[in-house]
Amino acid sequence: MKRVYLDTIDSTNKWAKEHISDLEDKTVVYTYNQTAGRGRLDRKWNNIGTDNIYASIILKPSSTMKGVYSSLTQYLSVVLAKTFEEYGVIPKIKWPNDIQVNGKKISGILAEAVNNDRYLEGIVLGFGVNLNSSKEILDKINQPATSLNIETGIRIDKEEFLKKVFDRFCLLYDRFIEDGFLLIKEDYIKRASTLNKKVSVKVFDKIVTGNAIDITDDGALKIVDENNKEQILLMGDIL
Ligand code: BTN
Repeated sequence: MKRVYLDTIDSTNKWAKEHISDLEDKTVVYTYNQTAGRGRLDRKWNNIGTDNIYASIILKPSSTMKGVYSSLTQYLSVVLAKTFEEYGVIPKIKWPNDIQVNGKKISGILAEAVNNDRYLEGIVLGFGVNLNSSKEILDKINQPATSLNIETGIRIDKEEFLKKVFDRFCLLYDRFIEDGFLLIKEDYIKRASTLNKKVSVKVFDKIVTGNAIDITDDGALKIVDENNKEQILLMGDIL
């Protein structure tokens, strides 16, 4: 994986989108000092210090990639979850792609597509990982959050962690864009915290409430809503 290190940047996703035409497939842009990070649902991603990771992977489309766009974030969430496991913690994936440890968020993913006229120029798969932070800093975030050093009791080497993520991402990526979500379905479901629970999911400006009963072969969430009707949600945010 080709790497671009930025000393300080407002947002690696924003930078990657602006420079996408000059960046090769499977390039990663990363920093340890992101000053205006963005999260899903127009939220911000806090800068919790320079011993944490803020990164964006640039993926360029190929003929086989089309069918897997919607589950690229799930692919990355499995990659991240397995990396956390190497450190002895038990991560859970909150559909579609939040990673939590002991019910607190440790990593988030934001995928953004870049279109040029009517063509897809690429996908920017941004992720932030809380590696080394203090409870005092994390308590100021507006949702329960933790970091790998808090969960393991040891300081985490950020270069080593990044290398593990990139190596693991590349390991199955080519097969993933051929085979799609099915390749990782078992690995995903094993770690999913969302199933067999009542959930409220924000899908654009609608909120759907029901019991989460399954993850489909495409990585979508299947729920039975309050009218006993099955609904397949391809994207959304669990509230
Ligand atoms: C979320 O959980 O809401 C997604 C958070 C994604 C944050 C990462 S940090 C690196 C990249 N650059 C950004 O501005 N956001 C993503």
